[in-house]
Amino acid sequence: MKLLFMNNLIFCTVTSLFFMAGSLHAATFSVLSPANNSFVEHEQLSIVLSLQGGGTTAVKALVNGTTFTKAVPEGGHNNIVCLGVTLVNGLNKIDISTTNPSGAVSTGKLSIYLRSRLSKQHQQPPPGFQRYYFHVPANESACTPCHRMEATLNDMHPVKPEDSPCYQCHKRKDNRTYKHKPVSAWACFSCHEVVTGKRKYTTMKPEQSICFLCHSNQQKLWKNKKVHHGPTAVGNCSVCHDPHGSNWPSLVYMHPTDLCLNCHNDKKSGLHVIAGFFAKGHPVRGDKNPLKPDRPFSCAGCHNPHAGDSQSLLNKERDNNSVYCQTCHKL
Ligand code: HEC
Ligand code: HEC
Ligand code: HEC
Ligand code: HEC
Ligand code: HEC
Ligand code: HEC
Ligand code: HEC
Ligand code: HEC
Repeated sequence: MKLLFMNNLIFCTVTSLFFMAGSLHAATFSVLSPANNSFVEHEQLSIVLSLQGGGTTAVKALVNGTTFTKAVPEGGHNNIVCLGVTLVNGLNKIDISTTNPSGAVSTGKLSIYLRSRLSKQHQQPPPGFQRYYFHVPANESACTPCHRMEATLNDMHPVKPEDSPCYQCHKRKDNRTYKHKPVSAWACFSCHEVVTGKRKYTTMKPEQSICFLCHSNQQKLWKNKKVHHGPTAVGNCSVCHDPHGSNWPSLVYMHPTDLCLNCHNDKKSGLHVIAGFFAKGHPVRGDKNPLKPDRPFSCAGCHNPHAGDSQSLLNKERDNNSVYCQTCHKL
């Protein structure tokens, strides 16, 4: 078993796209995941290193000024280190270093581009960067010695998170303030397919076909509206919602006003609401949404991000300005 495992590692090192030139005394390492010069579409990334030579006590990754570290325990499985880091939109230059007790350091670099469908300036990875997908057989084979890589029927609804075959590597999916119910139940397979063709865990497209499996009430409600909002109409729910969880209510990626401004930056001032009344414009942020007091006030206080009965997708129709303003302002 042990021997087989070592073979596996050597094999991985040779096929790794990336190799370190370490100092004479430091153990060197190679990167099993991700592939260098690739792009991903989510900020959570795992760096998996295979250490050669032994004696490494700590691994450090510097990602855009933030340091992520992991101590390497002595003995046992100490030749593989798995470290979760967080990316920012655009090009991430990652400096990796490993240290041994005598202080010798071995370093390496990775360039990973985080593409964002929301941010116009972060949609185009540098030339030559490929989309990185982890769950293909060639990558997974290096993990099987220590991680369970095949799902069974029992994994549809695990009793506790730790029972899920996804938990150990993806536990950060469940660490947000607002958690999507099927995710906190670790029912990953309510949305991800187990095996299809070349890679595992793909999701149906367009996305709304997944969402409406459970959100059929919303589907009915919106279908009956006259006007559908651009991105919702094409079924791109995850342009705005993280299907796993978020630190913002309603599982949106950021404050709803910032979300809207990614695509409607000309409305930043709020002037369009009360042009002619005040030079300052209407606030587009506030502590409380008068219509939904548990939410912050934002563009979504006035507009429905999904569908509406008028071109402007207003939550309350505006036949008459003073009545409209009075839905929130008592005169
Ligand atoms: C030698 C055993 C071993 C191998 C091989 C191994 N891992 Fe791990 N991995 C672990 C252990 C043990 C943990 C849990 C403790 C920890 O976080 O270090 C872990 C944790 C992780 C985590 C969570 C890290 C975090 O901080 O959130 C990820 C991601 C991960 N492994 C990915 C991989 C991938 C991908 C592979 C294959 C390329 C792989 N591992 C191969 C032992 C291994
Ligand atoms: C051995 C660790 C490991 C296990 C176990 C694991 N994943 Fe992953 N997964 C990764 C890594 C590494 C990535 C690449 C992105 C990253 O670095 O986090 C990834 C990426 C993904 C992606 C994005 C597409 C892709 O192929 O890159 C999906 C979807 C996914 N995992 C779903 C799952 C589900 C569902 C399970 C449980 C059935 C699971 N994973 C189990 C390590 C793991
Ligand atoms: C409600 C549906 C849904 C559930 C439940 C769900 N996912 Fe996803 N997941 C998606 C969709 C949709 C995407 C693709 C998002 C995109 O293209 O931006 C995705 C993408 C991913 C990715 C790759 C991009 C990323 O966000 O990191 C990983 C990894 C992942 N899912 C892991 C998991 C794990 C692990 C679970 C179980 C705890 C899970 N998912 C449960 C819908 C879901
Ligand atoms: C397996 C069933 C299931 C699927 C599939 C599903 N959801 Fe959910 N979703 C739920 C449940 C259950 C809740 C919690 C409902 C509640 O608390 O009223 C929820 C809540 C939400 C909420 C928060 C509602 C609120 O008022 O805070 C949003 C947003 C959401 N889902 C979006 C999505 C999107 C986008 C998709 C598709 C990517 C999706 N859901 C797919 C079951 C699902
Ligand atoms: C343009 C961004 C955007 C898109 C695209 C989008 N949503 Fe939303 N969604 C939001 C915002 C913002 C809220 C919170 C609204 C509020 O606070 O009044 C929300 C709320 C929700 C809720 C909570 C209940 C409700 O109606 O307020 C659900 C469920 C939901 N969205 C599902 C979806 C599904 C399914 C799709 C795809 C068909 C989708 N969303 C597309 C921005 C979006
Ligand atoms: C991913 C880009 C995107 C995001 C994010 C987005 N929108 Fe839109 N929005 C569009 C597109 C595309 C249209 C279709 C009309 C167009 O081409 O301008 C549209 C149309 C609208 C319209 C109708 C305008 C008209 O005259 O037809 C309103 C109102 C609107 N959006 C409000 C919002 C609000 C409020 C938010 C935040 C909750 C938001 N949008 C977030 C892309 C986006
Ligand atoms: C959906 C609710 C809503 C509607 C409709 C609405 N407002 Fe407001 N308005 C607010 C909130 C919330 C604030 C305060 C924001 C904060 O500071 O928390 C506000 C603040 C204002 C302010 C104070 C600006 C300042 O800088 O102190 C003015 C003026 C105003 N609204 C005018 C209007 C007019 C005119 C209309 C009708 C065209 C209108 N509002 C419609 C919610 C609304
Ligand atoms: C206080 C309520 C209110 C707030 C807050 C508000 N809007 Fe509006 N918005 C309106 C009204 C009312 C109209 C219709 C204006 C008209 O028909 O003359 C409108 C029209 C629009 C339109 C379509 C017409 C056009 O001028 O292109 C878009 C797009 C839009 N708003 C986006 C936004 C965005 C993005 C935000 C947040 C930055 C926002 N709105 C904040 C009330 C509001």
